[in-house]
Amino acid sequence: MSDVIEGYFGVTKDGGKSKLPAKLDWWQSATGLFLGLFMWGHMLLVSSILISQDFMYTVTQMLEGSFIFEDGGKPILVSIFAAFVFVIFIVHAVLAMRKLPENYQQYKILKTHINTIDHADTKLWFYQAFTGFVMFFLGSIHLYIIMTSADKIGPYASADRVVSDWMWPLYILLLLAVEFHGSIGLYRLSVKWGWFDGKNPRETRKKLKKAKWFVTVFFLALGFASLAAYIKIGIEHQDNYGERYKPTSHINYNIDKIRETQGVQA
Ligand code: HEM
Repeated sequence: MSDVIEGYFGVTKDGGKSKLPAKLDWWQSATGLFLGLFMWGHMLLVSSILISQDFMYTVTQMLEGSFIFEDGGKPILVSIFAAFVFVIFIVHAVLAMRKLPENYQQYKILKTHINTIDHADTKLWFYQAFTGFVMFFLGSIHLYIIMTSADKIGPYASADRVVSDWMWPLYILLLLAVEFHGSIGLYRLSVKWGWFDGKNPRETRKKLKKAKWFVTVFFLALGFASLAAYIKIGIEHQDNYGERYKPTSHINYNIDKIRETQGVQA
């Protein structure tokens, strides 16, 4: 009954307002914080390719739990984690959708408001909504592919996906969307919940804004450098599409074995 009263009159049965919108706001922030911090870790892991192919291979093996299982890593672990991230991603998107303008009139009011008050942080909100919308599609494609092909992550397999499977155009757009969305999101969270307010919130906001730009530029540079590295490997590896990477130590070990059986001195 109380649901019906609230449904028709917009107030709870004791005449108050529902606390649900505030709770949903908290969850939107919590899921956003998780995703924002996850993306920092994700970009650092993806950029392991800039150190060396062997290093990226080792990172991949570790994430598959190769230090636990004797017979090597289990890609299913990555699939399970990707599925978990996907669920958080969807929950965050559903919660954020509540804030988007839902018809032309609302959109027009929003645009007029943004232009009239000419306030930088309100403009940021608009970019946030736009990049978030882009990520609905591009992020879902990437997450689904990674979730269902977690066994095909590595220096060659990833590079093949980027070049031969044509993921690079999607990655360029997704990288731009995710880096702007993520750093604006984390900045807005800090301002909204006053995490670093201190004695002079105005001064803190200026510093946070500088930090936001630093983070955006840093992760965009790291992301594009990594993407360029995967593209280079992918082009060189095009004729051997599908072949899996063998770490240098493994190759050296096999060469030593062959030499041993043939009685050749190293
Ligand atoms: C557990 C979840 C995830 C895993 C395991 C994962 C894994 C990967 C891997 C291995 C790559 C390298 C290219 C490839 O193999 O295709 C990659 C690239 C990328 N991922 Fe993810 N990803 C995850 C979630 C996400 C999410 C949620 C986003 C953003 C919505 C995202 C955005 C990107 C972007 C933009 C690139 C290209 C970056 C570059 O090359 O610099 N990823 N990801």
